[in-house]
Amino acid sequence: MNRLDREKEFHNEAFATDKRKKVKKYYKTTDRSKKFYRDKIHENIAGLSVLEYGCGPGSQAFSLAKAGAKVTAIDISDVAIEQTKEEAVRQGVEVACHVMDAEDLTFDDSSFDRVCGSGILHHLDLERCYKELSRVLKPGGLGIFFEPLGYNPVINLYRQMTPDLRTDDEHPLLNEDFELAKTYFDEVTPHFFHLTSIAASFIPAASAQSALARPLNGLDSILFETLPFMKKYAWITVLELRSL
Ligand SMILES: C[S@@+](CC[C@H](N)C(=O)[O-])C[C@H]1O[C@@H](n2cnc3c(N)ncnc32)[C@H](O)[C@@H]1O
Repeated sequence: MNRLDREKEFHNEAFATDKRKKVKKYYKTTDRSKKFYRDKIHENIAGLSVLEYGCGPGSQAFSLAKAGAKVTAIDISDVAIEQTKEEAVRQGVEVACHVMDAEDLTFDDSSFDRVCGSGILHHLDLERCYKELSRVLKPGGLGIFFEPLGYNPVINLYRQMTPDLRTDDEHPLLNEDFELAKTYFDEVTPHFFHLTSIAASFIPAASAQSALARPLNGLDSILFETLPFMKKYAWITVLELRSL
């Protein structure tokens, strides 16, 4: 089975079952980075054409459409795309949904003002993906992505202990992935989140997790500001890519 088929099979199964719920219980800690991502992708969005890249069951497509964007959503998983279509109907919004390989988009050059995605880049061959993103974004258009980073030893240990929650081919982003982005985009701006706040993930109760994550996220901002080398050990990056 090739890489794309493995990705499709893994995610079809995950979306058709409740496998993802197992992971989501740890994710209250990331409320701050998620909010930053959501705010960024919704900024001045009315009237813009937006692609949700690797949308899964349609994570942001619906709110973007409600905010007045012309939204297209793609994913390699046909189960995800069916669920996105159903949810768009349920929420009464228009989203153009396609089963499509993110590394081989069928859209014309300069089709989108904005491309966004969460947890998608780290599933892709980034050389192929950056090439496609820079092609389909209009000049001055913005790519915004919410992605895991690959250097934190605690998170890496957790990853090793939970291999069934991941595909064999995914790789959390590394410095070399940012460097590669610079060969395709004029502006590559990563924002970093979660270091001490990772500790909150070990608390089972969601409300207590949020309560602890809030001050620790504040501490993380100060640490990243004063000790920039610590950014490498962040859990999450929100990555902005722009071609002028
Ligand atoms: C971790 S999930 C994230 C889904 C969704 N964005 C979210 O935040 O819930 C990764 C997604 O990438 C999709 N994917 C993986 N490889 C892909 C490819 N080559 N082309 C399009 N989508 C792909 C998977 O099917 C899956 O929906």
